[in-house]
Amino acid sequence: MRRIPIVIDTDPGIDDAAALGLAFYRDELDVKLITTVSGNVDIHNITRNALKLVTFFDKDIPVAKGMETPLLNPALGNKVHGETGMDGYNFPEPARTILKEHAVEATRSLLEESEEKITLVPVGPLTNIAALLLMYPQLKDKIERVVLMGGSLSGGNVNGAAEFNIWADPHAAKIVFESGLDIVMIGLDVTLKARIGEDVLSKSPNKSAEMFDAIFRNYRDGDMEQGVAMHDSCAIAYLTNPEMFTVEPRHVKVVTEGPASGMTMEVFRNEEPNVHVAVGIDVEAFKEWFLGTLAKMV
Ligand code: RIB
Ligand code: CA
Repeated sequence: MRRIPIVIDTDPGIDDAAALGLAFYRDELDVKLITTVSGNVDIHNITRNALKLVTFFDKDIPVAKGMETPLLNPALGNKVHGETGMDGYNFPEPARTILKEHAVEATRSLLEESEEKITLVPVGPLTNIAALLLMYPQLKDKIERVVLMGGSLSGGNVNGAAEFNIWADPHAAKIVFESGLDIVMIGLDVTLKARIGEDVLSKSPNKSAEMFDAIFRNYRDGDMEQGVAMHDSCAIAYLTNPEMFTVEPRHVKVVTEGPASGMTMEVFRNEEPNVHVAVGIDVEAFKEWFLGTLAKMV
């Protein structure tokens, strides 16, 4: 099987942790690099969490620290993911250190050296991706596509309009959405339906399920009875099993100013589509996919 080479740009983050773990155990994917970006909590905790995860799963995947603040907006952060971003489980101390290169430089090197195009999988604010495109526009030719978790055509989660990843850095998102790259937007339209709780985790009694159960209980984006929203895992699931999703070409603009800043607004007339938007998900297939992958994990 040809494995898809990917970079996961992430802000772990409770649902990021699930997405990273699942990606590590999918034979379809070759995770070349993990880059961290400020988002759910501060970049220090986020980067430490990424190191904790590659240590927990014992994966020799490089981690590079990225942008500490949004391009223009002031530093953000929320407490939906708790104090450290992965509270609730006693992770072993990271056995690895980060690359000396900044996330953007590490991604640049990878793109330049790779013989095949690389798929970028941002599941946090788009600050690193935007910085890469601004600094090295010539490298667009080495990017296969961008499969991102973010946005929504059916209302936000930060407010009525904006989804967190876009809201956290709308200027970065605008740059990415207007880049001309092949973009797949996995937004709240589908991710809010992709809920995993104790009904699924209890079916795979391994260390990974135990860890997920512990950190999911600290996630304010749901509860263990109804399930917590596996936003970021949907981007991974799309990569390995796109048939689980209904995707449509749409023209989407990113609002960068005013009370609706961070909204991914669909434009209906006189605009060519610029994004493939996931508008539907087979929820049962997603849960089976999640459980099937979880069963392979430590
Ligand atoms: O809105 C959901 C997104 O915001 C997810 O990526 C979650 O990890 C948070 O970053
Ligand atoms: Ca995230």
